[in-house]
Amino acid sequence: MKQFISVTDVPSVPRLAEIALDYKKNPYKDKGIGENKKLGMIFLNPSLRTRLSTQVAASNLGMEAIVFNIDKEGWALEMKDGVIMSGNTTEHVKEAAAVMGQYFDILSIRTFPGLKNKDEDYTEKYIHQFIKYAGKPVVSLESATLHPLQSLTDLITIKERWNQPRKPKVVMTWAPHVKALPQAVPNSFAEWMNAWGEVDFTITHPEGYELDPKFSGQAHIEYNQDKALEGADFVYVKNWSSYVDYGKILNTDPHWQFTNEKLRHTNDARVMHCLPVRRNVVIADEVLDGPNAIVIPEAGNRVWAAQAVLSEILKHGK
Ligand code: CP
Repeated sequence: MKQFISVTDVPSVPRLAEIALDYKKNPYKDKGIGENKKLGMIFLNPSLRTRLSTQVAASNLGMEAIVFNIDKEGWALEMKDGVIMSGNTTEHVKEAAAVMGQYFDILSIRTFPGLKNKDEDYTEKYIHQFIKYAGKPVVSLESATLHPLQSLTDLITIKERWNQPRKPKVVMTWAPHVKALPQAVPNSFAEWMNAWGEVDFTITHPEGYELDPKFSGQAHIEYNQDKALEGADFVYVKNWSSYVDYGKILNTDPHWQFTNEKLRHTNDARVMHCLPVRRNVVIADEVLDGPNAIVIPEAGNRVWAAQAVLSEILKHGK
């Protein structure tokens, strides 16, 4: 694997999932492969899970991870080519990414969308500028439109809990939120579920919250949440802002919140969320504190997903 920006970078999704779950059983089996290698972790936005789990994953491989909160500690970056830099930006990404490429063997980066200009966000300008100028393999720690480390995590969290011959029914449900959030997590979850092909996959949301069809693909779309949840084995709860009416909040109906009443429609489903989650807005306390929630072991699995990705790049990324 040469980079990790999307599921399309992955030669075999089932194989990568196996590698991740293998690390869960034996975290230190490849302790030597990262020796004398350095991972740059560049954040333009806050993070708890991605930052810490990737640092632990790097450490498990013997690799040193160096975190740089570039939005707070670095020079203001210019991303556009050919501009006259007489405004607020101090350093062009051409130099910044190229310099970081001198220091690190793998460069990882988190960016967020502006949620104002769909074309700008969906061309993934930021991460592609880093790929273009770093000269080293780049790993997404979440980009404007995708969060592949989260989705690999979610996939292995389902896989390790499912041993029946039939495919599990996985339902991703929209839930309300007070802020306009990116589509990165739902886009990515849909992309990975579709690429994996080992699940019966439904997406439910109010009208107007349709995802980019490039990511929702062949998923079954159901606008009636209760109907969508019938027989679900896994429910993935997530808010996102509208893709169609880009970046807007179109619905705040609290009936879309995931509660025990919603859980009763399912096949005693395990309940997932990428975290952080706003309690009693997105998911009710009774669910998060109940026996069906698996959000904590799901977050724990972030380490194994990151470790699988870093090890594959260390082994095959040149
Ligand atoms: N799920 C996730 O990416 O969490 P952080 O934003 O805390 O990294």
